[in-house]
Amino acid sequence: MGKAIIIQGTPGTGKSTIAERLSKKLGIKHIDISRLVIEEKLYVEVDRERSDSKVANIDKLTEKIVNILENSGKDVIVEGHYADIIPEKYVKKAVIIRLHPEILEKRLRMRGWSEKKVRENVLSEALDECLISALQTYGIDKVVEIDATNKNVEEILREILDELEGKNRKHVPGRIDWLKIIEAEGKLEEFLKRYSKIREE
Ligand SMILES: Nc1ncnc2c1ncn2[C@@H]1O[C@H](COP(=O)(O)OP(=O)(O)OP(=O)(O)O)[C@@H](O)[C@H]1O
Ligand SMILES: [Mg+2]
Repeated sequence: MGKAIIIQGTPGTGKSTIAERLSKKLGIKHIDISRLVIEEKLYVEVDRERSDSKVANIDKLTEKIVNILENSGKDVIVEGHYADIIPEKYVKKAVIIRLHPEILEKRLRMRGWSEKKVRENVLSEALDECLISALQTYGIDKVVEIDATNKNVEEILREILDELEGKNRKHVPGRIDWLKIIEAEGKLEEFLKRYSKIREE
């Protein structure tokens, strides 16, 4: 049986880019959960608020991923911002990719996303939503946080591989605090004003 190496994070943090390169480097498969949901029709209904995304059927999705892991001789890289649907016993490590909210905002705007969707995701990154959900599902020993800000993919991969090989435990969760960093940059008040009230577009 293979275990899941989860690459989790807010949309746009670089999960696919990292997961693809890691998968080549380790010679193991990479599954993108959002793609799997579409390809295998593992969704229940269309989310009307976000018309371009589908609501996954969590039970079917979990079953499908567990099945892939049980039938795999090797570990599998699983990418998703809601990867916390995999039972903890199937998880080797959950790597949370973090990105400075301002850089994330630029990336999401480049995708042409709506103002509401951009703000929702930037705020979610600033407030550690993804990290919280990963900690609740897998526990602190399996969760690793990687700051991808101003790093190239090779540097990010090195940090992930060090953690997977157990060389160090430098990336224990909780050390990344965007609000503190934004405050040190003198932009906290402006940031919160801009993002905390999401108007209906
Ligand atoms: N380390 C990096 N440095 C600079 N740009 C990067 C880096 N990693 C990813 N990018 C760029 O950021 C954008 C988003 O990357 P990617 O699609 O990998 O994110 P994602 O987390 O998989 O997004 P989604 O949640 O929508 O699947 C892409 O244009 C990608 O080229
Ligand atoms: Mg992706």
